[in-house]
Amino acid sequence: MNEHADVPYIEQWYRRFATSKLAGQSDLYRSWALGVADDTELLRLLCELPREKRQPHLVFAVSRLLGAPEGEYRQWQQWMLAHWPRVRAEALVRTTQTNEPGRCAAILPLLAQIDGPIALLEVGTSAGLCLYPDRYSYDYVVDRAAGPVTLRLDPADGPSEVVLRCEVTGNAPLPTAMPDIVWRAGIDLAPLDVTDPADVRWLQMLVGPEQQDRRDRIAAAAQIVRQDPPHLVAGDVTAALAAVATSAPADATLVVLVVGVLVYLGPQQRSAFTEALAELADYGARWISLEDAPVFPAMAEAFDENPAPRPGLFPLTLDGDPVAWCSPHGQSIAWIAEP
Ligand SMILES: C[S@@+](CC[C@H](N)C(=O)[O-])C[C@H]1O[C@@H](n2cnc3c(N)ncnc32)[C@H](O)[C@@H]1O
Repeated sequence: MNEHADVPYIEQWYRRFATSKLAGQSDLYRSWALGVADDTELLRLLCELPREKRQPHLVFAVSRLLGAPEGEYRQWQQWMLAHWPRVRAEALVRTTQTNEPGRCAAILPLLAQIDGPIALLEVGTSAGLCLYPDRYSYDYVVDRAAGPVTLRLDPADGPSEVVLRCEVTGNAPLPTAMPDIVWRAGIDLAPLDVTDPADVRWLQMLVGPEQQDRRDRIAAAAQIVRQDPPHLVAGDVTAALAAVATSAPADATLVVLVVGVLVYLGPQQRSAFTEALAELADYGARWISLEDAPVFPAMAEAFDENPAPRPGLFPLTLDGDPVAWCSPHGQSIAWIAEP
């Protein structure tokens, strides 16, 4: 068997990545991706990885984690050739687990509408940074007749090191007080541990090289999470859901967060998860989702009467009901539900 038979396939993958939304956030990644696509030597090395580990985002992040120079392609390529065994070993144990606390800006108005106290359970939680919406500060920028106005909301004990800015249109019920979250738990195939510096660095490397502000925000959020860590369970979202939900305090309202995870599940896994979620909802659990429309077709259909105001937005729902279109990282909310 030709061990380099996948070279053309990987070449195409890297070429496609160079024009993707993700690479659009990083000129450096785009230049590396185009460099790899034209580089037979590196393409042959990438054939040594299992398919799912060849993805550009993973390979680039692993190289940076291990100290690759964030410079022009030839320099990076020389480093890759010299350090390939380490890159291969690290890529085998890492997965893309981007954890974006900015999503809390989209989630917070919904949490604030739910009767507390709240027991918050996130599926596909990564390091659990989205389990702390009440510990971050928010600048909601609202359009008024006289011009944009910024509405600030801080945690009960004062401003947070993490400040999330979010532009709001429509009649969003912006909260004036934080929800009362008394329990936090997360399920993930491989939860990341904010007390482990290597895991926090990995989270930071999953953000493009030019996005220092997001790296700083992850570090600040991880510091907040370290002071009061969540209950994290290693397991599959569907298999673990009922058991973890049972451990929530009985006198709190269970709220399940489904954010940036369904893209990782195949169609059958998605419907099994949706059924497990519906069963919990039958027992009174509430749920919030912020997922790319194509991976959650039921959500996309729910939005038929209110199509996205512009491309690239994700549907936000409460208990499956459409409420808003949001930027994937929570930078904007376009509210569509009745106030
Ligand atoms: C992109 S991260 C999103 C993290 C977080 N929800 C956020 O929005 O910032 C997706 C996470 O889902 C986890 N994941 C993927 N498939 C899973 C499954 N079947 N069961 C549990 N976790 C899964 C991955 O390990 C990863 O940490």
